Amino acid sequence: MKDVGEMLVRRGYLWQSFEIYGGMAGFVDYGPLGNGLRRALENLWREYFVVNERAVEIDTPTIGIEDVFIASGHASSFTDVAVECKKCGKIFRADHYIKEKLGIETEETIDFVREVITTYDVKCECGGNFKEPENFNLMFSTTIGPGRGKQGYLRPETAQGIFINFKRLSDYFRDKLPFGVCQIGRAYRNEISPRQGVIRLREFNQAELEYFVHPGEKKHPLFDNYREFRILLVDKNDEEHDITLGEAVERGIIAHELLAYFIGKTADFLLKAGIKKDKMRFRQHKDDERAHYAVDCWDAEAYTSYGWIEIVGIADRGDYDLSKHREYSKEDLSIFINYDEPVVRKVRKILPDMSKLGPKFRKNAKKVAEALEKYSGEIDDVLTLEIDGEKFEVDRDLFEIVEEEEKVYGERVVPHVIEPSFGLDRITYAILEHSFDRDVIDGEERRVLRLKRWMAPVQIAVLPLLSREPFTGKAEEITVMLKKSGFFTEKDESGSIGRRYRRYDEIGTPFCITVDHQSFEDSTVTIRDRDTTRQVRVKELELPEIMKSLLSGERELTEVGELFK
Ligand code: ATP
Ligand code: GLY
Repeated sequence: MKDVGEMLVRRGYLWQSFEIYGGMAGFVDYGPLGNGLRRALENLWREYFVVNERAVEIDTPTIGIEDVFIASGHASSFTDVAVECKKCGKIFRADHYIKEKLGIETEETIDFVREVITTYDVKCECGGNFKEPENFNLMFSTTIGPGRGKQGYLRPETAQGIFINFKRLSDYFRDKLPFGVCQIGRAYRNEISPRQGVIRLREFNQAELEYFVHPGEKKHPLFDNYREFRILLVDKNDEEHDITLGEAVERGIIAHELLAYFIGKTADFLLKAGIKKDKMRFRQHKDDERAHYAVDCWDAEAYTSYGWIEIVGIADRGDYDLSKHREYSKEDLSIFINYDEPVVRKVRKILPDMSKLGPKFRKNAKKVAEALEKYSGEIDDVLTLEIDGEKFEVDRDLFEIVEEEEKVYGERVVPHVIEPSFGLDRITYAILEHSFDRDVIDGEERRVLRLKRWMAPVQIAVLPLLSREPFTGKAEEITVMLKKSGFFTEKDESGSIGRRYRRYDEIGTPFCITVDHQSFEDSTVTIRDRDTTRQVRVKELELPEIMKSLLSGERELTEVGELFK
């Protein structure tokens, strides 16, 4: 981990934010290479979760007004339990501190934390006693506008910007379920004591998909793509299953096909991005661990030097968010689903007998009759109707009941939401750790970052064999040509060719192109593969097409030229 960390800083992947002022935990700067890797990750994510789904991407503000988070439950429930030392004043997130000191999992409630601290006499690192544990809300609060302004919060998840636009989004999709809406952007959480570098940030990047479905149809037409996909699952009782997704649904380990589909698709995406299969698992949340909005949740976890870390959360949020925003905003966030064919149903109808209602209720007879027609409850000898705060008792002989057939053209539902939520910073870091490697080439140890070719921030390095004309001029020409073709390309002429190869191996550049003496005889260059260090010679003018197929993984080095080393 020390070597990876040192390399990431030195080569421009990740830097401590505010470094020249002493830094601040929970913030990270992406250097040129880190930024390139995260951008590649975002683009791959779009390909998987937007382009190849019935889904769109939107972009909403990172500051939200208080109303949104009161309705979503974040204002009251988005809390962690904190403990503060009476002596040194340090504050810790209680469950993490207890796990670190005692190795036990703690429920995130004040009562539970208090009991553990008392039972095990847990003290601060300085030896001091802790004050009473307290709930700490993780949202950063802010004031919008001058003076007393309006209370606002930095969004703790991108998802809410999608839920509150549901009416417009549903309109966009012509009220036809299922559909997905995603957002890629910053989220903010005032984490209590972040001590795990890029794993626990106060400002981080999420890519979230909210997939809206009919509550009774939690399936996906492409589930068969993942039915036979074998995966490591840890269920909420801590039982491990090495199992196919189809079997996991059949045995009820995963609640429904839609969750299983997104678990499969997430695994597929993570492997394509460079997470190692033997360092990836999916763990179900325990009943006391789930967020306030979730009815079921599976985390994708990656094994890193910090242990198993959550990198993606896949939650079934039910109709929690739409129902809450419906209740608080008073906007109808339901959707009318037209059936393909109308359904004929038998319906009960109440027919008021006006010749009896009139004399009994006089001036109120009309409104009693209307209320009777709408009544859908149990039929007793006497019905009590409440109209505008007034009660009316209606005897059974004042109306008739008939059964009629009625054509029903559709139904109104509040859709359910399945949400795969990706933490891009944690995934980027896990990819870097999983790609970091060492081997021995020509008797010399080298560090090599085995990033997937399509993820590398510098895809091609063009290296003149000698740092003088005409080698440098030709290298410049080739660099311009490759850049024009859309490849992230660097030209480098400083140091011996061997050292330059090592430099690009270390940052994960999959291919180096070298301009050598022969280039001026037959207009050819060499391409060197980072992982094998083998080389082929190809025609300079064919480079754009060859590099495209190599970088996408369509072709291997041996398919584009003859190996000579
Ligand atoms: P944790 O239990 O680690 O605090 P969480 O369960 O609160 O995470 P979610 O609310 O499910 O996380 O957020 C979705 C995703 O956002 C996570 O899978 C993770 O990758 C990312 N994420 C959440 N909090 C942070 C953070 N403080 N720093 C970086 N990424 C984060
Ligand atoms: N949208 C999931 C979360 O960030 O909590």
